[in-house]
Amino acid sequence: MKILLIGASGTIGSAIATALGARHELILASVQKSPEQVDISDAASIRALFARVGRVDAVVSAAGRASFKPLTELGDEDFELSLSNKLMGQVNLVLLGLASVVDGGSFTLTAGYLARHPIPGSGAVSLVNSGLEGFGRAAALEAPRGIRVNVVSPPWVTETLLKMGRAPDGGLAAAAVAQAYVRSVEGTITGQTIDPSAAS
Ligand SMILES: NC(=O)c1ccc[n+]([C@@H]2O[C@H](COP(=O)([O-])OP(=O)(O)OC[C@H]3O[C@@H](n4cnc5c(N)ncnc54)[C@H](OP(=O)(O)O)[C@@H]3O)[C@@H](O)[C@H]2O)c1
Repeated sequence: MKILLIGASGTIGSAIATALGARHELILASVQKSPEQVDISDAASIRALFARVGRVDAVVSAAGRASFKPLTELGDEDFELSLSNKLMGQVNLVLLGLASVVDGGSFTLTAGYLARHPIPGSGAVSLVNSGLEGFGRAAALEAPRGIRVNVVSPPWVTETLLKMGRAPDGGLAAAAVAQAYVRSVEGTITGQTIDPSAAS
């Protein structure tokens, strides 16, 4: 398969690249640190990316920023960033990318554990992650030509916890998280929110 991977230079994205790279042709994209550049918060940038890469069998996104702050400190700008970047950035990958995906192809987006397991500070992140899970279920109902849409909702990734200087307990290794994306891309499921902890 020819797979467009956005967020390819990230902790999760690079593990997805390793997991899928041996069997498929990958087009690696991210803001700066990948061969193809894209800013998913900018619709024109997404359109330009799809115009450059042409038809693909699958689009995988492991990208998107959202603000993590206490409720009383969350302002309009935090919601604006979270909605325009992680939420609408990935929604637009589907809306603007549908015509570039082959019949029976797939989209796999990334939400996160905080959708269903909020913690103090996760107001904007939980909002966006829940929105992505809902969008994935709904978009799968209407995606044309047998195109599948799934959302991976990762738990804390071990490597991320370590980078943050936190204890890695309860985290899942990026390589294990990546297997949820493999399942979405190579399998037949659609409209699913995949929890890599349950899948591993
Ligand atoms: N890591 C975790 O524990 C965890 C848990 C649950 C959910 N998630 C979610 O999983 C996704 C990836 O997380 P991660 O930890 O792998 O992130 P990361 O290591 O910070 O990497 C982020 C990746 O996304 C790219 N990116 C950032 N903003 C972008 C934009 N506007 N347009 C296109 N690409 C963009 C970055 O590109 P450059 O490197 O080129 O700047 C990089 O490739 C995020 O949405 C995160 O919320 C992560």
